[in-house]
Amino acid sequence: MNIQKNITILAIESSCDETSASICVNGKILSNSIATQSVHELYGGVVPELASRAHMQNIVPIIETCLQKAFPKLNAVERLQEISAFAFTQAPGLIGSLLVGVQFAKSLALSLDKPLIAVHHMQAHVLANLIQDPAPSFPFICLTVSGGHTQIVLAKSPLELEILGETIDDAAGEAFDKTAKLLGLPYPGGPLIDKYAALGDPLKYKFAEPQIPDLNFSFSGLKTSILYFLQKQTPEFIEENRNDLCASVQFTIIQILIKKLKKAVLQTGIKQVCLAGGVSANSGLRKLLVETGIKHGWKTFIPSFEYCTDNAAMIAITAYYKYQAGQFTSLDCHPSARAQW
Ligand code: KG4
Ligand code: ZN
Repeated sequence: MNIQKNITILAIESSCDETSASICVNGKILSNSIATQSVHELYGGVVPELASRAHMQNIVPIIETCLQKAFPKLNAVERLQEISAFAFTQAPGLIGSLLVGVQFAKSLALSLDKPLIAVHHMQAHVLANLIQDPAPSFPFICLTVSGGHTQIVLAKSPLELEILGETIDDAAGEAFDKTAKLLGLPYPGGPLIDKYAALGDPLKYKFAEPQIPDLNFSFSGLKTSILYFLQKQTPEFIEENRNDLCASVQFTIIQILIKKLKKAVLQTGIKQVCLAGGVSANSGLRKLLVETGIKHGWKTFIPSFEYCTDNAAMIAITAYYKYQAGQFTSLDCHPSARAQW
């Protein structure tokens, strides 16, 4: 008898400071468990050594939780027997953090004699848009904005992704976080800037937008102009004008992002536009994307927050497509901090 077997992926994401595991069956996410590492708040940024140690502590419980949530009626052995392949984030990321996920996935694959699938974190951010309905059809454009990356990607099919433009220096999330630091706000500052910006005037202060050709981005000049502006002010001024400063900085960052998206749509003629990455949680960016979409006749897509920030569900969905394409990796594969796809 020929029984059609389910494709069941157990995916691990450990590229930065979230330890996450997810189960995906035939492209449907059954669970997505995430352990956030709060230890970094004390230091104003992610401390790589502490991140690796926290991954070591979190990885077993988070995998157990995701298996339990996905298969509540099975016992621990039966749950693992359901898995067709183990997937992990191979690049880019903090090397010590990546190593924890890679080694764990390898151990599971070796001991259970199942295939391994290596996933590129930035490809996965884009494919997070395929997790929920309605999903975009191909081709689509995706703006991926996170703490480490800012990219405009053309997705021709799940495994045919082309970078049309990216940042030449800082990422959009860094621009948020570094501004927040200058304003005396704790890490990560992006969500706080968003919160205070809602109460401020976005046109009160003007910060120069970079003049970068093509579809590339630059945020380091903006950071410097904010720094120079704030250096001339008193702490009282910064405190009293915090809302307007946050609103003005957020407005500038969002303008830079949306202008490039408009350019990408004009260049490609593709009017399905997606967001991805942690910065897509920003309420101003979400609002402007939707408004711009309505104005220009785009179909816009923004994943739920849990699929925008770092998560293993996006690794699992990407691995599902790689499984179907027979794109497996060997046990001697290794992680890479910087590898492009
Ligand atoms: O994708 P992500 O969770 O991790 C990376 O791969 O970097 O993105 C984290 C980034 C941080 O820079 C954080 O400040 C930013 O996303 N972020 C926000 C908001 N929520 C998270 N930035 C602006 N507004 C928000 N609401
Ligand atoms: Zn990310």
